[in-house]
Amino acid sequence: MSFDDVILLPGLAPVEPWQVDIRSKASRNVEVNIPLLAAPMDTVSEWRLAVSLALLGGIAVIHRNMPREEQLEHVRRVKNHPLVELRNIAFSPSDECCRVRDALRSLGLRDAPLVDESGRVTGIARLSDLLTCSCGGRVAKHAAPPRTYSLERVEEAKRDVIRGALDAAPVVSEAGFLGVVTLNEAVAPYKPVLDEEGRLRVAAAVSPFDLERAKLLDSEVDILVSDVAHFHNANVLSAAARLVKETRADFVAGNLGTREGVVDTFSRLERVDGLRMGIAGGNICTTSGVAGVASPTLHAVAEARQALRELGVDPLQAPIIADGGVRGSGDAVKALAAGAAAVMAGYLLAGTEEAAAPTIRIGGQVFKPYRGMASRGALERRHAADRYSRVSKKVEEGIEGLVPYKGPVRRVVEEFAEGLRAGLGYAGASSIPELWEKARFARLTSRIGAFTGTVRTRL
Ligand code: XMP
Repeated sequence: MSFDDVILLPGLAPVEPWQVDIRSKASRNVEVNIPLLAAPMDTVSEWRLAVSLALLGGIAVIHRNMPREEQLEHVRRVKNHPLVELRNIAFSPSDECCRVRDALRSLGLRDAPLVDESGRVTGIARLSDLLTCSCGGRVAKHAAPPRTYSLERVEEAKRDVIRGALDAAPVVSEAGFLGVVTLNEAVAPYKPVLDEEGRLRVAAAVSPFDLERAKLLDSEVDILVSDVAHFHNANVLSAAARLVKETRADFVAGNLGTREGVVDTFSRLERVDGLRMGIAGGNICTTSGVAGVASPTLHAVAEARQALRELGVDPLQAPIIADGGVRGSGDAVKALAAGAAAVMAGYLLAGTEEAAAPTIRIGGQVFKPYRGMASRGALERRHAADRYSRVSKKVEEGIEGLVPYKGPVRRVVEEFAEGLRAGLGYAGASSIPELWEKARFARLTSRIGAFTGTVRTRL
């Protein structure tokens, strides 16, 4: 059963959509303001998306298709990031001044920092100083003295931008220039998800077999998310059992697709802080075609819910993450109604500005690459080997493609959150736990809109 096979029936709404509470959990100890996790995929989740998503109230899982030290670096960048978005706007002191002038005009900014190759802010280029500059000259000749803000002074940077002292306030760390705060970010109504020390939350993907990586990430990261295609495997379960003994961060087990898989996971692991549910239901997955096996996300979530009921486990102590195939808020509402606490998405976020892949222009259109982690390209990156191992599996189980560019992730997430609130409202729930109780599904026939009967809550 997948997202298109069912529909939610409307119910008596106890509140207005804007009053619907969509806070939830990504794992036992990690609360989120928006129930959305970015999937650990190398065209999606690196530090930039992780920062934006955590500021907006969700959480990203940094992919592991890179050396472990590099993955740790991504986690640290999120943890050390100030609680405001920093935009990567800067010019080189050796740029031609007329080019900088034109770029400032098209960005709608009156100023921007000049940053040299070592990351040092050498001055501020101000549009008013460049109005009459000639095209051969370097911008450095016309620059105002540098002005920077350390990480501790980010609030001051925001205030200065809001009062119009400058349009792009450069923030620096010991390592050099980090980015600028502009008005858009300074006034953004962020609802960040923060750890006990007030830093942004972030998760990281690990293979249960890579204990060394898990231990390296453990002290810095909030959640270790298991990243194997088939967690219900005797060797994987043994390795995961050891991993949870030797780490302290929340551990989300997955991917799983069946009730038995969840039950076995609980019986073998002394700690399970979340369940990543869904096998081969993703938008770029070809596993079901290659192997003839799948557990579509909605079905997998319902299986997990059933298992938790049988085990007597509170669903907020082992939140179910619906992973794969979510195309928008409508699918997410169905996943939540089936028992998920949050959804994990790759495709939905791959086209955003902050997603890890670069933008590509073809003709007049802008795209971003998006690929499965078991696609040829991803497999060729060395560290994908242990997810869909070439040793045990010699076939590709994912495709590579392009998705339309969607702009800043903020737009996507805000739309997603509004859609969720509307969906919960229609279904007659004022919160996600209430949706679990009240949701009523109906099965659709192939003729869109035709019901074959209703199913109360259980799928
Ligand atoms: P969406 O639909 O959100 O799905 O893009 C993201 C999820 O898809 C899984 N994934 C794969 N599954 N072959 C697969 O069968 C792959 O190459 C592949 N890459 C990612 C993964 O669970 C991810 O979170």
